[in-house]
Amino acid sequence: MAKMKAAEISKPGARFQLVEREIPEPKENEVLIRVEACGICHGDALAIAGNYPGLNYPIIPGHEVVGMIERAGTKAERFWQPGQRVGVGWHGGHCGQCANCRAGSFWTCEQAIITGISTDGGYAEYMTARSEALFYIPEKFQSKEAAPLLCAGNTVFGALKNSGAKGGDLVAVAGIGGLGHLAIQYARKLGFQTVALSRGREKKGLALELGAHFYVDISTGQAASELQKLGGAQVIICTAPNSKLISSLIPGLARGGKIIIVSFSEGVIEIPHSQLLGGMNSISGWVGGRVEEALHFSALNNVKPMIEEFPLEKVDEAFSKMMESTVHFRSVLIMGGRHT
Ligand SMILES: NC(=O)c1ccc[n+]([C@@H]2O[C@H](COP(=O)([O-])OP(=O)(O)OC[C@H]3O[C@@H](n4cnc5c(N)ncnc54)[C@H](OP(=O)(O)O)[C@@H]3O)[C@@H](O)[C@H]2O)c1
Ligand SMILES: [Zn+2]
Repeated sequence: MAKMKAAEISKPGARFQLVEREIPEPKENEVLIRVEACGICHGDALAIAGNYPGLNYPIIPGHEVVGMIERAGTKAERFWQPGQRVGVGWHGGHCGQCANCRAGSFWTCEQAIITGISTDGGYAEYMTARSEALFYIPEKFQSKEAAPLLCAGNTVFGALKNSGAKGGDLVAVAGIGGLGHLAIQYARKLGFQTVALSRGREKKGLALELGAHFYVDISTGQAASELQKLGGAQVIICTAPNSKLISSLIPGLARGGKIIIVSFSEGVIEIPHSQLLGGMNSISGWVGGRVEEALHFSALNNVKPMIEEFPLEKVDEAFSKMMESTVHFRSVLIMGGRHT
């Protein structure tokens, strides 16, 4: 059997191990993808922490995958053919029957078949994926540019598009990492007055280049009053996994404004009742989005991730840089071989 290189996690808390595995065989409704690029998302840390339902060790993480179809199973070949370039994101399931699927929320299907969590993902030279989990990649993008749009970009585009904010509203993005640096670009291109919130002054220049109209240093503890000086935010998208920060930003909302949390954290958000009542403010969460919409909008409006490229052998370094927030702004694993 032909072999491939992969980076796997053998058990919760383990480090990445570079292994040789057999190239997987696609089942009848699956395709075999030769991976070209795979973004590293903070969500992949769930596979290492082991605190997500459905984890199935050893596991190959990775849910921002772009590659070429090499082979299609007998049912999948009705929809997909070898040679097509496709993307795979955080595919949550496909039962079509549970309450979440019926509500159109496949990324939270109760079957919880999640790429890189309960099925092997893209930190490998090859992977299989179900035909309904695949997306065409616009020609405009190189594979390494498209990969981070499949989760990071898709999530924040969906959160912003469905936030209720209208053109000209003040919209803030908290945390400039993989999700945040794309959220700034989308917010600007969706026509919002865009504020970037980040720790320290370091990322100010880049935030403005990405399209932010204003920059606020949250480490001063004055972010809420700075937002009020700008008129108050209609929406604050929180990509920073810090519950205390989230609570501290509520007084920065305009009347009727909303905090939308996209980050995962085990922390607890404490909010005095008066802070929500007085301004009729709200706080909500958002996961996933419609990948094809995010890809289409990104291609039309030239929204691209800023990436650092790593070979699979440097997966540890690529992952650590993401965890330490020192990557500008998405680590992307580049697999060997021919690329588009
Ligand atoms: N909802 C969804 O569907 C979805 C999808 C993908 C990811 N996520 C989650 O979204 C979050 C962000 O993911 P990511 O890939 O963008 O991560 P990331 O690249 O690590 O970026 C997170 C950013 O948050 C800020 N930050 C980190 N730790 C912080 C702390 N303790 N206090 C204040 N700010 C902090 C940093 O920005 P500054 O340096 O600018 O302050 C950092 O760059 C993660 O929790 C991830 O699991 C959710
Ligand atoms: Zn992700």
